[in-house]
Amino acid sequence: MRKKIVAGNWKMNMTPSQAVALCETLKPLVAGSEADVVFCVPAIDIVPVVEAVKGTNIEVGGENLYFEDKGAYTGEISADMLLDAGCKYVIIGHSERRDYFKETDEIVNKKVKKAIEKGLTPIMCCGESLEQREQGITLDWIRMQIKIGLQGVDAADVAKMVIAYEPIWAIGTGVTATTEQAQEVCGAIRQCIAEIYCQDTADAVRIQYGGSVNAGNAAELFSQPDIDGGLVGGASLKADFGVIANA
Ligand code: PGA
Repeated sequence: MRKKIVAGNWKMNMTPSQAVALCETLKPLVAGSEADVVFCVPAIDIVPVVEAVKGTNIEVGGENLYFEDKGAYTGEISADMLLDAGCKYVIIGHSERRDYFKETDEIVNKKVKKAIEKGLTPIMCCGESLEQREQGITLDWIRMQIKIGLQGVDAADVAKMVIAYEPIWAIGTGVTATTEQAQEVCGAIRQCIAEIYCQDTADAVRIQYGGSVNAGNAAELFSQPDIDGGLVGGASLKADFGVIANA
């Protein structure tokens, strides 16, 4: 039985002091959640957020990392930095990183491997554009992203990681994929993992849906057989996240 996982992706929102205030608001609202609850926050907010959620059921994650251990990579953040600051998770390959910062599947793969090597749990994102959906190549595209993203990753490590299916056309747009669309792709991702690895690995990996998840649609989405929770953007910055974490 897979435990659900609901993660907030704060993106480039919340200064350190705002971040602490948001934690205070959300802590009691998510305290009763039966899911793993994760706040993925901007790098500069990690230390104060880790401090603010100490002793609660909330884990903290980064929104990105770099695949080198350390060195002359101005502006980047390493896996060791995230770990030492108290992170357990890290989002990798979000469509905004792929789009604005030109991250390829090959880069995503290097980052996933680095996160695993260091003991962080990757939340690896995939998702198709509206154009790709209209062309009928959604499942081909997602399978390609999964296959390249997981190149060289062991079954045992895949079993422990998280994959987030986020259709690009549903992110921040208020347009949520229908429950059927979300389930179809999450099911196809599990099938793909079964083909590359084995059924046990596919049964173990947790697959989230993301894209305009809100307090009203979370329960139905999370009740689908292959949807093990959500990656939540906009609604993670307000009290609605409490409803979603309990959905
Ligand atoms: P959204 O973002 O919930 O605001 O659509 C989701 C995401 O980008 O992870």
